[in-house]
Amino acid sequence: MRVLSGTQPSGQLHLGNYFGALRQYVALQERYPETLYFIADYHSMTSLRDAALRRRLTEDVALDYLAAGLDPSRAILFRQSDVPEVCELAWILSTVTPMGLLERGHAYKDKVAQGIPAEHGLFAYPVLMAADILLYHSDLVPVGQDQKQHLEMARDMAQRFNHAYGVEALKLPEPHILEDAAIVPGTDGRKMSKSYANTIAMFAPRAEVKKAVMGIVTDSTPVADPKDPTATVFQLWNLFATPQERREMAERARAGGVGYGDVKKDLLARLEAYFAPLRERREQYASRPEAVEAILEEGARRARALALPVLASVREAAGLGTPRARN
Ligand code: ADP
Ligand code: TRP
Repeated sequence: MRVLSGTQPSGQLHLGNYFGALRQYVALQERYPETLYFIADYHSMTSLRDAALRRRLTEDVALDYLAAGLDPSRAILFRQSDVPEVCELAWILSTVTPMGLLERGHAYKDKVAQGIPAEHGLFAYPVLMAADILLYHSDLVPVGQDQKQHLEMARDMAQRFNHAYGVEALKLPEPHILEDAAIVPGTDGRKMSKSYANTIAMFAPRAEVKKAVMGIVTDSTPVADPKDPTATVFQLWNLFATPQERREMAERARAGGVGYGDVKKDLLARLEAYFAPLRERREQYASRPEAVEAILEEGARRARALALPVLASVREAAGLGTPRARN
């Protein structure tokens, strides 16, 4: 079983990314012998045109991966652009991908609906993502609900290629939709997301984390009154509590006498304690950029070794390049 997923380098990691995705990547690394996690720097080109910033954000994702506990001796960690063969597969897939399929893509449709001109790269984003997945014969692709459509497109493209050339050169991946229960609310109660500016970025300077936690929106129920145990502040607190603690907190909330301010303070303390070892690991790696670079290069070497035979069979099936010796 081969597990693969990717993360766009697009800014500071927040609690939603950690509990919704990264923590689960770490768990999968324990469960499966082959896991590949990459930094989708080619994909980031659809929204970011600052080379220096791309490099910095790419390094940030590498540090976040390592801080969260991805272990380079188990998981293959690499930069998407270090295996440029993915672009060749993307081209090949694009020749069997109907326009209509891509026209239904959420990211593209949203941009067009807002009247923003879209580039071909954004339109073709799902093709590159399919190439990421298919190039490594991935079996399982852990992604959030928002990426489910892209995964279905990848399966569709694999099928179309195999059918067009009468081969089984590409493997159909299974989605592994990350638990819905893990949708983390932001400080304003909506889904935590960079685009809503409601995030708690756990590796941000401590003062910033504190400000975000203290800014979690609450209603004006007096301390003594009963409270809704599903309020945002309790949901966030629950991330750092045992099931037993959660039950007790819910009872106390319903009974009244719990102040939101105290819950926030306790949440901050728990959050800091939880992330302290991760923060430390992150700082250690950050002080050794050459070690991080070496991990990514080694990851790319291992990833490429998996990719080349797949690409060779695709090229052969499509009649590209030097023909294989006939026997
Ligand atoms: P953002 O919404 O901040 O731009 P991304 O789309 O970059 O976040 O998220 C990357 C992945 O992190 C998603 O595919 C999803 O699995 C996970 N994720 C993001 N936000 C949340 C959230 N609030 N709750 C749970 N998972 C999340
Ligand atoms: N599109 C994904 C995101 O924005 C990132 C990504 C790129 C990806 N290629 C992938 C995820 C391949 C899984 C598999 O989150």
